[in-house]
Amino acid sequence: MWKKIFGNKGAEKASAQVPLFDRIDKERLPRHVAIIMDGNGRWAKGQGLMRTAGHTAGVKTLKRILKTASDMGIEALTVYAFSTENWKRPHAEVDFLMKLFAEYLDKELMEMNEENVRIHFLGRMEGLSESLQAQVRNAEELMRDNTGIRFNIAANYGGQDELVRVMQAIAREAVDGAIPVERIDEAVVERHLDTCGSPPVDLVIRTSGDMRLSNFLLWQAAYAEFWFTETNWPDFTPEEFVEALVDFQNRDRRFGGLNIE
Ligand code: IPE
Ligand code: IPE
Ligand code: MG
Repeated sequence: MWKKIFGNKGAEKASAQVPLFDRIDKERLPRHVAIIMDGNGRWAKGQGLMRTAGHTAGVKTLKRILKTASDMGIEALTVYAFSTENWKRPHAEVDFLMKLFAEYLDKELMEMNEENVRIHFLGRMEGLSESLQAQVRNAEELMRDNTGIRFNIAANYGGQDELVRVMQAIAREAVDGAIPVERIDEAVVERHLDTCGSPPVDLVIRTSGDMRLSNFLLWQAAYAEFWFTETNWPDFTPEEFVEALVDFQNRDRRFGGLNIE
């Protein structure tokens, strides 16, 4: 299975990592892992390249990590690709990112479908170009009945923006008389979130050293475990992903209660 992840060329490297993979308890995998893929710009700077080269390199990492998570049997992987705040970047970078996103969908769609991936997008879709929206709808439709990993891509996503949209939708239902105000509870909110249908987020990983949420999954991260690494996203490997999972498995999750042996 690990040979499959690394390909033949990486088989030697993979076998060197076997003890690490063996440390994972396959019965206690996080059900849902969310990743803030940060540090593309810093990686590029370190290599003396343009920031855009960092984004291109980041796509390669994403492919490998999706494959690793899928092969391991993780139920859901959510990645932060573009935030509602990223529009503040120079026009040329935003433009490049949108083109990269379109190209990624175009190139990877068939393979993802063959891998039984079920793609889903989080965020304010109407903020994307018409053609990108069409690609997004097409991808979701194509993989709708797949039963493999649920792969959520957060694009034009902000946790606060998501919660505002949820509040508007619920308020509309309340005004229409579809739901009495006193019946609005956590479960109702959950049903309106972009992540509806995914299991609760167990683990949030952020690369590149910054320790903040940057408006990612504000509601969903309520009881998630956090794992940070200095590694820039383009350098993040399946081995380091495994390291995060091993660390997760050693955490004592109490959810406000007590774990009495
Ligand atoms: C993450 O890398 C990718 C996006 C936000 C789209 P950055 O572009 O934020 O890289 P740094 O943080 O500037 O190094
Ligand atoms: C978060 O990274 C957004 C994505 C990874 C898409 P940023 O680079 O935008 O976050 P800040 O600006 O450092 O908080
Ligand atoms: Mg960044």
